[in-house]
Amino acid sequence: MEQVSYTLDASEQPTHWYNIVADLPTPPPPPLHPATQQPVGPDDLAALFPPELIAQEVSGERYIEIPDAVREVYAQYRPSPLIRARRWEEKLGTSARIYVKYEGVSPAGSHKTNTSVPQVYYNALNGVTRLTTETGAGQWGTALAYACSLFGLGCEVWQVGASFDSKPQRRTLIEVFGGTVHRSPSRMTEAGKAFAEDHPGSLGIAISEAVELAAQAPEAKYALGSVLNHVLLHQTVIGEEAVRQLAKAGESGADLVVGCAGGGSNLAGLAFPFLREKLAGNQSPRLLAVEPSSCPTLTRGEYRYDFGDTAGLTPLMKMYTLGHDFVPSPIHAGGLRYHGMAPLISHVVHEGLMEATALHQNECFAAAIEFARTQGIVPAPESSHALAQVRREALAAAETGAEPVIVVGLSGHGLLELGAYDSYLSGHLEDDPLSEDAVAAAMARLPQIG
Ligand SMILES: Cc1ncc(COP(=O)(O)O)c(C=O)c1O
Repeated sequence: MEQVSYTLDASEQPTHWYNIVADLPTPPPPPLHPATQQPVGPDDLAALFPPELIAQEVSGERYIEIPDAVREVYAQYRPSPLIRARRWEEKLGTSARIYVKYEGVSPAGSHKTNTSVPQVYYNALNGVTRLTTETGAGQWGTALAYACSLFGLGCEVWQVGASFDSKPQRRTLIEVFGGTVHRSPSRMTEAGKAFAEDHPGSLGIAISEAVELAAQAPEAKYALGSVLNHVLLHQTVIGEEAVRQLAKAGESGADLVVGCAGGGSNLAGLAFPFLREKLAGNQSPRLLAVEPSSCPTLTRGEYRYDFGDTAGLTPLMKMYTLGHDFVPSPIHAGGLRYHGMAPLISHVVHEGLMEATALHQNECFAAAIEFARTQGIVPAPESSHALAQVRREALAAAETGAEPVIVVGLSGHGLLELGAYDSYLSGHLEDDPLSEDAVAAAMARLPQIG
């Protein structure tokens, strides 16, 4: 019988996270303090993050050791499988070889556990007793609540209003893991009170709320599920495993690595170890980010300094952005509704080391359903963007007879997103083309720096 799923022995498991900064041809621009417009120092971040995470945020070291306590939790669900999607390939009639790196096997159902566990671990080491955070799709809130329950911390989650309203089970799951959930915008913060109570919310607003409360409470700190360097760093276990698993599958390397991009963390986690191999001349994959057409940060935003949140409480980061007060339409891939993009992903796209494209949600759901019916996995709506792009690439290969090796990040399962699938199946899902005016209006309100 042909092998279609590849794992790793305990001795082959990554012991270190990989820091792409050490290998980049040019250094990424630093975050700036909004008042001085000078690079932020560790002290500026100390109210929000413990010292170990701040050190990782600014580190230039190539490899950073994964603490034993974190590896013990990873061992519950890692390595995640690398699956050759044979049945989907057959359905597509493609000569491409498609390998799916599936993160839906984690306790919380997505890649987010890879960073929630180390983030909570370092906070616990420093005596922090409560973490605040935002969640879009609900996956990050779930992952953080689970990690907090492991290390005995309280967890308070601001869930983007549109997602809170449409996904009651996500809130329940976060509560099962011991977290508390607030609909954002809430009445508990100044950032939230700036909006009507029934506003659909955005990740930018929810971040402002969580940051505002953490900055006020001495026993609390803030945790972010994407965007920052240390979050992307933790996610590199995905790509480190995939590089090794692909070799086990007998492939000499990838020709194309694809991931969906909201804040950029699952994509970076998968792609950066492949980028290391590319920069070292060992492989030559194209790297490709897929974002939603209704929140097209990389494909229609500008590369410049902007705030990470709506209220302007965070440092200024150089990134592709649609403007920090841009509120994307409430598409079902809630985790992709972010106005900006990780500075490291932005930098590699700007340097020409990674490409980006944008897709509408109906095409993504169609691909996800085809994938579910052949491979038996129901993808998260976010992940469906990566699959839809792979579908395009595989059909193009079928035309030419090319045999590319495609590695795609399947960042989470969609078993709690069946409402979204129901909308698609009943023909009620709308694509929301974003007007030039809406983009121009948000860009006009950007801070004038850099
Ligand atoms: C399953 C899943 N995939 C992707 C994302 C997008 O985040 P990122 O780009 O940081 O991976 C999210 C965010 O919530 C998610 O839940």
